Amino acid sequence: MRKYIVGNWKMNGTSADLHEIAAIATMAAAYPSVDSAICIPATLIERAAAALPEFSIGGQDCHATASGAHTGCVAAAMLVDAGARVTIIGHSERRAAQHETDADIRGKAEAARIEGLNVIVCVGETLQERDAGRALEIVLGQLQHSLPANSSADWLSIAYEPVWAIGTGRIPEEKDVREMHAAIREQLVGRFGETGKKFRLLYGGSMNGENATMLLAIPDVDGGLIGGASLSAAKFEPILAAAANSGE
Ligand code: PGA
Repeated sequence: MRKYIVGNWKMNGTSADLHEIAAIATMAAAYPSVDSAICIPATLIERAAAALPEFSIGGQDCHATASGAHTGCVAAAMLVDAGARVTIIGHSERRAAQHETDADIRGKAEAARIEGLNVIVCVGETLQERDAGRALEIVLGQLQHSLPANSSADWLSIAYEPVWAIGTGRIPEEKDVREMHAAIREQLVGRFGETGKKFRLLYGGSMNGENATMLLAIPDVDGGLIGGASLSAAKFEPILAAAANSGE
């Protein structure tokens, strides 16, 4: 399976940073064996996509409905119109701060698919849940209820992001990532049959140039969703290099 490395800029970036997005796109082109994308603030998508037609620019959310009285929200068709090819849905920061439920996330993923976007649905447990021995139960429950019934690897990837690993510099032990990704795969195969083997499962949470080789070597880790280390081409490059080398 081709590795998929996706940057998540979160609420960072103005027009002054368009040059860094261009630097990332140029750098990524040097790793043709790896699929990559950068999910940036909605305000930058149109300019970045127009300047970088070869590169996959993405959004970080979309609304579950096509249009209407939803002040401040962005519809999937608007992301596509701006030039996005992919969007993150259900990031834990949105699950927590915007109170997004699994049902909300399922609706958003479906709305994005209808508009032809690729989608990355995020799942992950809190530290409290892991310490209580409930990580598998929580993540598998989110997975079960966040994915649309007609999910297909053609348009959907899944990111496992332990909430306590995001932005903290802490990562789970190798065996815990291995266990979680195997369990996610098992549920996908149980639910979708053979096609369940084809979904790309990304790991996210403090992935960087130092730990990417280890993380990307774990079975069923088919890529990464990267926050802090995607903000510059210099920090992002070693992760793409690790992904390019991981198949060898
Ligand atoms: P991080 O963020 O790499 O900064 O931990 C990952 C994410 O939230 O997607």
